[in-house]
Amino acid sequence: MAVKVDDIVTLLSRGISRRQIYFDNHPEVIAHSEEFTAELKRFLDEQGESTFFLGVAGRQLVYESHLLLGASIIGCRIVDLLQELSCGGIRLQCSVEPWEIRAWFGLVADLTEPVADLATARALLDAKGIRNIELSPVYDDPNWFGQESDSIPHKIANGNLSDNAIAMIPAYQSVYGSVEKAHTDAADDSAVDVDTTREMSGNMMKSMGDSFMDIMQLVDYPDFDSYTVGHSVRVAMLAAFIGRYLNAPQDFILELGAAGLLHDIGKSRVPDDIIFKRGRLTAEERHIMERHPEDGAAILLAGNNASPLTISAAWGHHLRYDYKGYPASPPWAIQNNATALLHICDVYEALTAVRPYKKAFSPRRAYEIMLFDKGAFHPVLLRTFISALGLYPAGSCVLLSNGERAVVAKAGVDIQRPLVEITHERDGSPVISRRPLDLGAAQTRDIEVNGLLNAEANVESAELSSAV
Ligand SMILES: [Fe+2]
Ligand SMILES: [Fe+2]
Repeated sequence: MAVKVDDIVTLLSRGISRRQIYFDNHPEVIAHSEEFTAELKRFLDEQGESTFFLGVAGRQLVYESHLLLGASIIGCRIVDLLQELSCGGIRLQCSVEPWEIRAWFGLVADLTEPVADLATARALLDAKGIRNIELSPVYDDPNWFGQESDSIPHKIANGNLSDNAIAMIPAYQSVYGSVEKAHTDAADDSAVDVDTTREMSGNMMKSMGDSFMDIMQLVDYPDFDSYTVGHSVRVAMLAAFIGRYLNAPQDFILELGAAGLLHDIGKSRVPDDIIFKRGRLTAEERHIMERHPEDGAAILLAGNNASPLTISAAWGHHLRYDYKGYPASPPWAIQNNATALLHICDVYEALTAVRPYKKAFSPRRAYEIMLFDKGAFHPVLLRTFISALGLYPAGSCVLLSNGERAVVAKAGVDIQRPLVEITHERDGSPVISRRPLDLGAAQTRDIEVNGLLNAEANVESAELSSAV
């Protein structure tokens, strides 16, 4: 399979996080640096290039004048580090050696404060003998290593993402950053800063406004590190969306969001080889994985400032309505509706998200699986969830029967007929400005949604255990 630029950014991001956890010569760090250089060489060979440049423009990662949207949000660690080095990106030569990659990871892992300027940062690389990694001047500088800066905003627009969504990227970088930090702190046995995560949840809700569609597009990217941070943000978004749909009080929605962001905090105690394992877990691995709800609740209780709702969600999000699931629980445990809602959001997100071993299920297929699993979910909340999201949830890209492409703005009264905004004409060209269209209106009865513009996956539901 061809190597994608996102794969390279993923490996870069993961390498930095590994080096922050482990020492320089740890087998994990060595193996990772070897994997990174091998994949980079393969990527450059396939591209017919001799260098790889990853740039930073504003708060966004850029490769060959394409904004790497998912990478910019989920890989905000790289953005932060490059900015701390006062540079506008890194250029890697094809001949870069694993030891140089390790030296670079070590350099950025040991940074305690931003360096004064680019010359100082370059001197740090020189001092380590790193020759095949170069730091670029910042984006505004005429000597920036990237391509013509004028072309970037054009590519960013990309036909699908509104200016509003692009403006929200920094807010989402902070949310990802705070959840990622909570997981790193918990893995490190440090206290989790629940207040900051709650504050980020509040900012996220504010920026949500009426733009749920844009937000869901923004966060609809595979996770780079553990598949847990992105999953948690999407679960939080879904829970908050349902809270709003039910006209719940603002404070409650905020707590729901915070609970979603931290519900899998216990996974920070699960070894990586289990988290990243593709395919079925052994009985022993499953046992370790199934400890994460109790560990999560213990981590949050130790932090002293988590709300009962957040602790309950961490502890009970794998409990089923029929009292099965885990941890083994007394009958009263399932009576918390907020936890039951997060259970629904958790499973739905895992079913509809991309994972390394599967593509995404469509919402329709996810609903079928969930409805078929008798006794698993709170029945009223599951019905509410399906009505609120519809068959084509906000943010989905759909193909209409007239050949136009659209993005869903809102579920309609009829769950098959959402309100959409046209993004592409019949000939496939992007529209100049999006046209709203209510498929529930009488005059559009002859137009239907022909399908979602993403593929269905075949995956055993048992394989989802590590994903949720
Ligand atoms: Fe979980
Ligand atoms: Fe989860």
